[in-house]
Amino acid sequence: MNFDLNEDHMMMRKMVRSFAEEECAPGMEERDENEEFPMDLWKQCGELGLTGVTFPEEYCGVGADYISYAITVEELSRVDPSLGVTISAHSSLCANPIYLFGTEEQKQKYLVPLATGEKMGAFGLTESMAGSDASGTRTTAVRDGDDYIINGSKIFITNGYYADTYVITAQMDKSKGNKGIAAFILEKGTPGFTFGKKEKKMGIRSSATYELVFENVRIPKENLLGEEGQGFKIAMVTLDYGRIGIAAQALGIAQGAYEQALKYSKERAQFGKTLSEFQVTQFKLADMALQIEAARLLLYQACYLATEHRPVSKHSAMAKVFAAETANKVATQAVQILGGYGYTRDYPVERMMRDAKITEIYEGTSEIQRIVIAANILKD
Ligand code: CAA
Repeated sequence: MNFDLNEDHMMMRKMVRSFAEEECAPGMEERDENEEFPMDLWKQCGELGLTGVTFPEEYCGVGADYISYAITVEELSRVDPSLGVTISAHSSLCANPIYLFGTEEQKQKYLVPLATGEKMGAFGLTESMAGSDASGTRTTAVRDGDDYIINGSKIFITNGYYADTYVITAQMDKSKGNKGIAAFILEKGTPGFTFGKKEKKMGIRSSATYELVFENVRIPKENLLGEEGQGFKIAMVTLDYGRIGIAAQALGIAQGAYEQALKYSKERAQFGKTLSEFQVTQFKLADMALQIEAARLLLYQACYLATEHRPVSKHSAMAKVFAAETANKVATQAVQILGGYGYTRDYPVERMMRDAKITEIYEGTSEIQRIVIAANILKD
């Protein structure tokens, strides 16, 4: 077993880290304050290949493995977790289901511009009555000749409004429960498809989170993803891979907060010595480093399985829940180490603590991850 990153991974880390530090860090706190979506940084991500890391070169992706993808999201999130989730939702939740379940025509038409970053992607699963219970979708799709007509709405959609391409789910036959659900590819600008409420959030405030509204939206039958009735499974598989991205985002937040706390502990002196010379601080730092290392190992193991196309459900849920809880513990401890300064907006740990919370909620709460893990253990 080899735990070393290979040369490609190290090059990816170096490249994304310098982009994050040089381009993303300068305006980060201002974007957070103003809830400003960084369209310019998104475009640069496309130019650097960060919008299509795992997709084969034949679809204009980079053709790299999932560890490279995790490194990308981790390094972005170490500095800018809002951009981290923008890339993660785009890649894992929109481009990936098209890659996994799309026809060749759909891949050429939608995956290629998503992979290059010419187009941005989003995923519409959640509804007001279908959150953790993803099968409770009330958005409907009705076949009408060569089209489907969609009615309903989706909430909390990451990249909503800015995205060009949406993978959405809709119920076609309520009597069939989750087997009545279908998935569709929907283009921004389709008549009847509009945007509702923009969410004002605690954290990841420079990422976009919108409501999607569908009023008699007509989609051609060519935009059905997979088969009728396959939509719930498509969503579940999509989330199995998607949780790798959120685990990477959480890990990046934890790493960023830990580095801030470590640096501060060596500079700040009280009672005649630096904080890092007190054993109480050393124990805090040791626990932070320990949790981060364990989260990274779980994440990279899930990445390995995803790259090998092996079942990843249990491991991505494990990586996600552990990394999310690590991000919250580490960011909270970082604020504690920085004390009064950590509680102000003069230091990024205050934002990191706010940014960390969502990783325990979206793409399945920590409680849902434990349901997924338990279901897999019992099945095994
Ligand atoms: N892969 C393939 N098939 C799967 C699957 C998986 N991972 N998980 C379930 N299925 C299949 C089951 O095998 C079953 O099939 P059969 O009926 O043929 O046997 C079917 O799907 C139903 O499975 P369950 O009975 O387990 O389904 P459930 O209704 O009990 O729900 C759940 C299971 C795990 C709780 C699921 O609803 C879930 O994951 N909920 C959380 C939803 C979620 O993560 N939402 C996040 C929204 S996206 C987001 O947050 C994006 C963002 O902003 C960044």
